[in-house]
Amino acid sequence: MSGHRVPIAPQRVNAPLTQSATFLVVSVTDKPDAIQTVRSTLADVDSLAKNVSIRDLSAQFACTVGIGSDIWDRLTGLPRPSELRPFREIKGEKHTAVSTPGDILFHIRSERRDICFEFERQLLDQLGDSVTVIDETVGFRYFDVRDLLGFVDGTANPVGLAVPASVLITEEDPSAVGGSYIVVQKYTHDLPGWKDLSTEQQERIIGRTKIDNVELDDAESGQRSHKTLNTIEDDDGNEHEILRDNMPFGSPGSAEFGTYFIGYTRRLWVIEKMLERMFVGDPPGLHDRILDFSKPLTGTTFFAPPASVLASLGSD
Ligand code: HEM
Repeated sequence: MSGHRVPIAPQRVNAPLTQSATFLVVSVTDKPDAIQTVRSTLADVDSLAKNVSIRDLSAQFACTVGIGSDIWDRLTGLPRPSELRPFREIKGEKHTAVSTPGDILFHIRSERRDICFEFERQLLDQLGDSVTVIDETVGFRYFDVRDLLGFVDGTANPVGLAVPASVLITEEDPSAVGGSYIVVQKYTHDLPGWKDLSTEQQERIIGRTKIDNVELDDAESGQRSHKTLNTIEDDDGNEHEILRDNMPFGSPGSAEFGTYFIGYTRRLWVIEKMLERMFVGDPPGLHDRILDFSKPLTGTTFFAPPASVLASLGSD
């Protein structure tokens, strides 16, 4: 890597929710030039983005790149972000958050499916045989920002200045300033089972009403809702938010109904704690009942370095 200092510009982790998104997870192959090809492609992501975004400037194109723990050292040669580690499997009594491989995540967003498609096509052309695709999920926005369980999803996301405050690393980790951790999990739902529940039962599981999206009170004891289990406070009582951009995906013809979970955070431990509370339960044994109808097929952690760091990867 070149030793010169570049100004820190985060990637567009705070891009708005869009109508379409592609979640592309790849692994770097052991072909002789693979690392070099991946480096130069990541350094070039901004110009690839320009190739397609110019074709409809109103389509809100954004692509965020996340780099996994196992490839970080070889790919970047830079100091490791202090919390970067592989996704830890979490085994609850009944459900398991599986950990699955993946070196690089491309979170491709646009109002238009064709723009996401075209960017991914040009990107994979450039990457060639330096990567193999581990998972490609195409998400779509469903009525009123609802997930396929029928609930409005994303309401409690931070807004305004709370976004960078909860998503971007600052002075607590000087070599990772302007970066963000990303956790993804691809869930499929047992929709017939979910539909057998009454609306009131579903609302108690989620912690909000279904039609008008009003928050329900937290349970004082016993079974807690998804919303309550995902409210995280540190030892000083500060609540820590994360930024989610979940997307429905699936295909009625093959009875596939899913939610692609993606969370951005400044503190990886916050998402890990959420997962522990969901899968192990709080109190332990009382897991998040959303899991009785939602099975994670993947689980992978990445770090999205600042755009300026990505751009510098090609300069070696
Ligand atoms: C809240 C759906 C997985 C973290 C919610 C809400 C819904 C929802 C409908 C309430 C509205 C809102 O605030 O967005 C789902 C579905 C999932 C899923 C369908 C996958 C099957 C996860 C996972 C995490 C998570 C894996 C974290 C690791 C959160 C957080 C909130 C939330 C932080 C906001 C809690 C608050 O009110 O402060 N989710 N979620 N979700 N979910 Fe999920």
